[in-house]
Amino acid sequence: MKALILVGGFGTRLRPLTLSFPKPLVEFANKPMILHQIEALKAVGVTEVVLAINYQPEVMLNFLKDFETKLDVKITCSQETEPLGTAGPLALARDKLIDDSGEPFFVLNSDVISEYPFKEMIEFHKAHGGEASIMVTKVDEPSKYGVVVMEESTGKVEKFVEKPKLFVGNKINAGIYLLNPSVLDRIELRPTSIEKEVFPKIAAEQKLYAMVLPGFWMDIGQPRDYITGLRLYLDSLRKKSSSKLATGSHVVGNVLIHESAKIGEGCLIGPDVAIGPGCVVESGVRLSRCTVMRGVRIKKHACISSSIIGWHSTVGQWARVENMTILGEDVHVCDEIYSNGGVVLPHKEIKSSILKPEIVM
Ligand code: GDD
Ligand code: MG
Repeated sequence: MKALILVGGFGTRLRPLTLSFPKPLVEFANKPMILHQIEALKAVGVTEVVLAINYQPEVMLNFLKDFETKLDVKITCSQETEPLGTAGPLALARDKLIDDSGEPFFVLNSDVISEYPFKEMIEFHKAHGGEASIMVTKVDEPSKYGVVVMEESTGKVEKFVEKPKLFVGNKINAGIYLLNPSVLDRIELRPTSIEKEVFPKIAAEQKLYAMVLPGFWMDIGQPRDYITGLRLYLDSLRKKSSSKLATGSHVVGNVLIHESAKIGEGCLIGPDVAIGPGCVVESGVRLSRCTVMRGVRIKKHACISSSIIGWHSTVGQWARVENMTILGEDVHVCDEIYSNGGVVLPHKEIKSSILKPEIVM
């Protein structure tokens, strides 16, 4: 089977992290987002993954070289010269997606995290006999997603409305599709949206089916959702393979610590923390609900909560970093600084406190 991952888009909502790496390469739980997806696809027999790219292709291509062999999946790029939206890239990659087998192929948004129930999805798709299957999930705030109204018993989609202004329902498109090759005949090679132009038409012909996704789901394309997503992911990891989580008297709740990270004496870490490779956490540090990317140093007695610390940054001693502070790559927070929701661009030095949420350029 084949799969296409929609990798384009500028990832603006995840800046400043996406100023250093394209969104799919930003680590989530110590692994680039896209690797979570490719590994799960491989597990259900996908042998070729097409990345639909329009942003920083050279970075993605370098990344691919390393991982193609490691994962033993053929990974190719389909590069747009102009952003083609969420459907146009499928038309562009048409020849890569179609083969003699006539099998359906997966399409994924690159920023969604879940237990990826692809096996269940294949069974669902075969059973209903329609043209396309989409995963849906329930959310509290449906207006920022594509909303799906479906017949409960069969899953047949009655209506698909992208980002509705008025309430239509609370089941939303999870950004995970299984499509018959015939869907490609409906898509023109131009900037176009699968959510606005393709799904509503297939639904009108009663050939679009939705399956409620078992387990957790999150679009981690925004900092707050990224942090919530980590909590959900770690909860699920606790149930499935708890041996991957850190243990010890310094750990509270679910915590992921890379084996190469060094943790000092008297720290208290957790819940819902991920600490990346090569990090140094000095003594007496308090971390909760946060992600600490590769190569970060956190000095003595610093306290970090509900924040993301970008690659190779330093947080000074006695510093307090909280409330959705996002540090870009290589940021240096001086000793005893307070950051309340600061969003700091790469390579900055923070010498005075950030008292209210703001962007520091
Ligand atoms: N190749 C390519 N070209 N990819 C693109 C382009 C483009 O021009 N524009 C967006 N993408 C990719 C993004 O990188 C992302 O992986 C995916 O398409 C969806 O775009 P987002 O910008 O993340 O959309 P969204 O989060 O507002 O809404 C989408 O996802 C929701 C679930 O998270 C829609 O599919 C909604 O219906 C859905 O509910
Ligand atoms: Mg998104």
